[in-house]
Amino acid sequence: PDDFTILALETSCDETAAAVVRGGRTVISNIVASQMATHERYGGVVPEIASRQHILSLAPVVRAALAALPNGWNDVHAVAATHGPGLSGALLTGLNAAKAMAWQRGLPFVAVNHLEAHLYAGWLGSEPLPPFPLVALLVSGGHTLLALIHDHGQYELLGQTRDDAAGEAFDKVARILGLGYPGGPAIQAAAAQATPGGVLPRAWLRDSYDFSFSGLKTAVLHRVQDRLAQAARLSGRKGSNETPQLDAPFVAQMAYAFQESVVDVLVTKTVDAARRYKAQAILLAGGVAANRRLREELKRRAGVPVHLPALDLCTDNAAMVAAAAFYRFHAGVQHGWDVDVTANLPL
Ligand code: KG4
Ligand code: ZN
Repeated sequence: PDDFTILALETSCDETAAAVVRGGRTVISNIVASQMATHERYGGVVPEIASRQHILSLAPVVRAALAALPNGWNDVHAVAATHGPGLSGALLTGLNAAKAMAWQRGLPFVAVNHLEAHLYAGWLGSEPLPPFPLVALLVSGGHTLLALIHDHGQYELLGQTRDDAAGEAFDKVARILGLGYPGGPAIQAAAAQATPGGVLPRAWLRDSYDFSFSGLKTAVLHRVQDRLAQAARLSGRKGSNETPQLDAPFVAQMAYAFQESVVDVLVTKTVDAARRYKAQAILLAGGVAANRRLREELKRRAGVPVHLPALDLCTDNAAMVAAAAFYRFHAGVQHGWDVDVTANLPL
């Protein structure tokens, strides 16, 4: 199966993506059309707009992905698409397009779980491949979970977030700090400008592998409100009636302290779980896995090899969907034309 080639689509949120992957790990093409700019002015993803944009982008994105194959469709052995979790309307566009193409070409079809796909980013281009048992930390805009992977397709959930997902916390705090959307990269950039120092609380939730980030978000909000009130008093004294603004050094300091708090909790729990379950390695996945501080701190404290997907494979893409489909297909999984989307599909 080393040359088994899969064309996969991903449309669970705001990226329209198509990719071709060979043998479950060699990326032949990986095309992502981001809708970020479209949703930016709303401060988040608008589901109806996302669906419409996917419909416009799907055909060109698929064409570009197939262009990397010398014989186009003739080199494709199976088609895959994400069927959940995600926005129903958005998922439907990619799932239906993929089903139609597979049907028309007479190719097998595999529906893929988006969370599983994020984990399989760790198999793309990786040398050596991740060993089992493996502890995986999946941190994205919609999910935060810590899992023990016994083997392909065998997941044991160790913990998850009780409120905001890690990426969601980055996005909300970025908004509070006036840093824009998406928040992760913006916070990372602002934090890099800070002089280290300043500590925000950590929600440890003792004796649990669960996470909580909403208290941290509220702590940032309170510091910001205090700062603005202070600035208003100062400008009032000077007789100015301008609306007070957050100053850049304060924003950088908050971004830094927030990022350190999130990274500390994520890394501490992940490393603890890896020790307890005698994991052979740790795998980091999901959009927040692109965070430089998280990558660096996890490697420093892991004690076992750490598998870090390339940055462009951490955020939503279709290559990871193809990789997950490869292992599902070779475990005997195939789906019929009746497979539907499931907005809240669990891992
Ligand atoms: O996995 P993903 O692309 O989409 C979901 O399935 O949710 O993750 C997107 C999330 C966003 O919340 C974004 O702010 C976050 O990943 N993110 C980051 C970084 N790059 C993206 N968070 C922290 N640091 C980053 N460098
Ligand atoms: Zn995702």
